[in-house]
Amino acid sequence: MDNYILAIETSCDETAAAIIKNGTEIISNVVSSQIESHKRFGGVVPEIASRHHVEQMTIVLEEALKQANMEPKDLTAVAVTEGPGLVGALLIGINAAKAFAFVHGLPLIGTHHIAGHIYANNLVQPMEFPLLALVVSGGHTELVLMCEHGSFEVIGETRDDAAGEAYDKVARVLNMPYPGGPHIDRLAHEATEAVPFPRVWLEEDSYDFSFSGLKSAVINYKHNMDQRGEEIIAEHVAKGFQDSVVEVLTGKTVRAAREFQVKQVIAAGGVSANKGLRTALEKAFKEEGIPFYVPPLKLCTDNAAMIGAAAYEMYEAGIRGNLAMNGRPGMEL
Ligand code: KG4
Ligand code: ZN
Repeated sequence: MDNYILAIETSCDETAAAIIKNGTEIISNVVSSQIESHKRFGGVVPEIASRHHVEQMTIVLEEALKQANMEPKDLTAVAVTEGPGLVGALLIGINAAKAFAFVHGLPLIGTHHIAGHIYANNLVQPMEFPLLALVVSGGHTELVLMCEHGSFEVIGETRDDAAGEAYDKVARVLNMPYPGGPHIDRLAHEATEAVPFPRVWLEEDSYDFSFSGLKSAVINYKHNMDQRGEEIIAEHVAKGFQDSVVEVLTGKTVRAAREFQVKQVIAAGGVSANKGLRTALEKAFKEEGIPFYVPPLKLCTDNAAMIGAAAYEMYEAGIRGNLAMNGRPGMEL
């Protein structure tokens, strides 16, 4: 019998619901973004995010069922992001999922947001193990080794800012609106020159990342130029910053792929939408002879389809949540 999972995602600033067939096929995928409401604050305001989720949750859920032309009785299970994320935001999705599962007598599955980002790839391309995932988003920068479904080993992570967070902060220095990643990406591509910023490699054998020093270097550069009464060229700063981020992310991912002799490399999370990063990773892994995949843009940023894809493997493994489920803002992979 076919498996249909209704998935819900509300960990940050998107209210999303989707229906996934057998873990790999998107039947419907609805995302309501709040970016406009957070823009004027230059970042996500947790209280505003929660209020939006409350307003949007039912609408998005109904739309996911409507687009799939399905009724609750056609579903196999309900999945929801249990963490990590903003606790108030998570709780809106979790309570909607609990209520839906209870009313319709469906099993409930709590999913990890980053597992979701990784499993977005399974909606496009079957995952092959061992697999290396570079997860780069507004809240995360992690290198994850997977030897089988459901097994995640974090071999490296950021020691300070997430890559997306650094993008958003640098964008603010350049007077670009939130979220800044796409703007820096665009400016970097228009640039003819790059301001030389440092590459932060940390210890020779480390797969960890650090972006706060690079962010400070950009801020100091702007400050020094201001003091000298000189105008910065935003394109050159954007390219300098992006070149540094991309070189380090790509370099460490390649070294890890070699060391663990992986069969597949995937990129996941909002920053994997970055053109510079995609191009660099594609080129590097073509040279390495290792298949590299990154999901289409709308599956890179937050969505519920990826949560349904991750939940399917959990469902198959017999993992179930219950009505005592709580939001887990610091949930580990
Ligand atoms: O995965 P995501 O949608 O939400 C989180 O779970 O954080 O990622 C959002 C992050 C933001 O920091 C945004 O600036 C960044 O992804 N982002 C980009 C690009 N598109 C989105 N960063 C760099 N280049 C892009 N093209
Ligand atoms: Zn995310």
